[in-house]
Amino acid sequence: MNNYRKAIIGIAVILSGATALWAADDLLQDRALEYPTGYRDTFTEYFRGDRLFEHDQVIRIYANDVALDGAKLDGMLPYGSVLVAELFTTIEDEDGDVKESAIGRRISGPMKAIAVMERQSGWDEQYPEELKVGDWEFDLFSTAGENLNKDMTACRACHNPLSDSEFVFSLEHLIAAQP
Ligand code: HEC
Repeated sequence: MNNYRKAIIGIAVILSGATALWAADDLLQDRALEYPTGYRDTFTEYFRGDRLFEHDQVIRIYANDVALDGAKLDGMLPYGSVLVAELFTTIEDEDGDVKESAIGRRISGPMKAIAVMERQSGWDEQYPEELKVGDWEFDLFSTAGENLNKDMTACRACHNPLSDSEFVFSLEHLIAAQP
């Protein structure tokens, strides 16, 4: 083998080693969730309305049966709970401001992304205190269900203070969900 070939192989080995390391690092930082295929048929929609911190979005939130049953039983969301939040843009008026409808609400435009939370035992272990969220993991998907591979640190940081409501903003709506 000539030196040139050796060098190429050497570089390839180093690169593949580095990729493996990065992959392991990603896994440690942020676990990829499985897209909850078919949730519109199998989950319960329990909230639909204007978003609190995003003035130009509306949201629809769905829960699987594990989350719904837990919320109804004692207000706790057991391991296996999955929540799905569809994020929609809003219609603007002539000035480019978010339009308010005759009933004082934002008017939904197209869906832009799908946010998912899933809770499983031990899923918080790798995170520092300020990013712990009661064993929930977060992920963001396109409307076609592709993982957008976003950094979930901001998600965790904003949901982290909600230890009194299972780290979920809309828990009261889930507990009170009507069939
Ligand atoms: C700045 C605060 C903030 C950040 C950052 C944030 N969220 Fe939330 N999240 C909220 C609020 C507030 C709600 C309640 C609905 C609303 O008003 O938007 C919510 C609701 C949710 C829900 C429905 C369950 C619940 O808690 O009510 C999911 C799922 C969710 N967020 C996932 C995510 C994901 C994934 C990310 C990151 C890509 C994220 N969130 C980032 C504030 C935040």
